[in-house]
Amino acid sequence: MPVRHFLRDDDLTAQEQRTILDRARALKADPFSDRCLDGPHVVAVLFDKQTLRTQVSFTAAIAHLGGFPMVIDGKLANVGVRESIADTARVLGREAVAIVWRTYGQERIDEMAAYAGVPVVNALTDSFHPCQILADLMTIEEHKGDLPGLTLGYVGDGANNMAQSYLLGGALAGLHVRIGTPAAYQPDVAILARAHEIAAARGGSVLVTDDPVAAVADADAVATDTWVSMGMEGESATRKGSASPFAPYAVTSELMTAASRDAIFLHCLPAYRGFEVAPEVIDGPASVVWDESENRLHAQKAVLSWLREQQLAQDCR
Ligand code: CP
Repeated sequence: MPVRHFLRDDDLTAQEQRTILDRARALKADPFSDRCLDGPHVVAVLFDKQTLRTQVSFTAAIAHLGGFPMVIDGKLANVGVRESIADTARVLGREAVAIVWRTYGQERIDEMAAYAGVPVVNALTDSFHPCQILADLMTIEEHKGDLPGLTLGYVGDGANNMAQSYLLGGALAGLHVRIGTPAAYQPDVAILARAHEIAAARGGSVLVTDDPVAAVADADAVATDTWVSMGMEGESATRKGSASPFAPYAVTSELMTAASRDAIFLHCLPAYRGFEVAPEVIDGPASVVWDESENRLHAQKAVLSWLREQQLAQDCR
């Protein structure tokens, strides 16, 4: 059996996603009940991009599970330049029981996983942010109940990692996922096709539209993200300027009136008030962004615990 990784949302089956969400909820209720990294076993956590929440939540998650978080500044390791990704993976895999990596291209983390010999977790790439989506699903479930059949409307950059992970992870959870984005910022065609395939099997649906109101109409949850994802800083003037293509997709109080009356608002943070979200929305009663941020901890503990379980089961074979 190959080593299991969590590199993109659909690396999990729907049942496995359910198991992880249930485990996350149990760990939130009883934070020190799972000591699967007791030893302490080391988890390598590398960052090639900026972070606050991901570093804090993975560090806390690994500590809660009894392990040691070996946080590595990507500038020092300079993976792929100072040393190949394959050699880095071989080195880390000898000393760590899992590797968590925030990096740029998805092909980089795919290569890390191919050579590590231990589970690799995507802590954000240009294509996906699957740990964030587990936290978001957990948050939606806490506030809105059972996930299958709920509607999530995301508005903003439809080609970024959050939009693409909402498509896959949301479809896997049985949500109706709607993406409102300008025509020039559509999700990757193959990812969209995969989301449609998953949604058909799970009883949900997927819609990509350039109409922001249609994207959030009667939605149970409304989400957005920064208009300038990490790595896109060179396009900042276009993306955030006075003629921003995303301006019609800003989550304002007016846009929220198109959603369900008791819709919640999600944002993975960091947020830029006055751009992708109005202050009165993110700081208002519909906002669940602080629960969402906290749930990164619980969701990632569940991911690490589940992957450790898979790995130990394989080692026993
Ligand atoms: N949401 C998120 O991944 O936050 P950071 O970029 O601060 O880690």
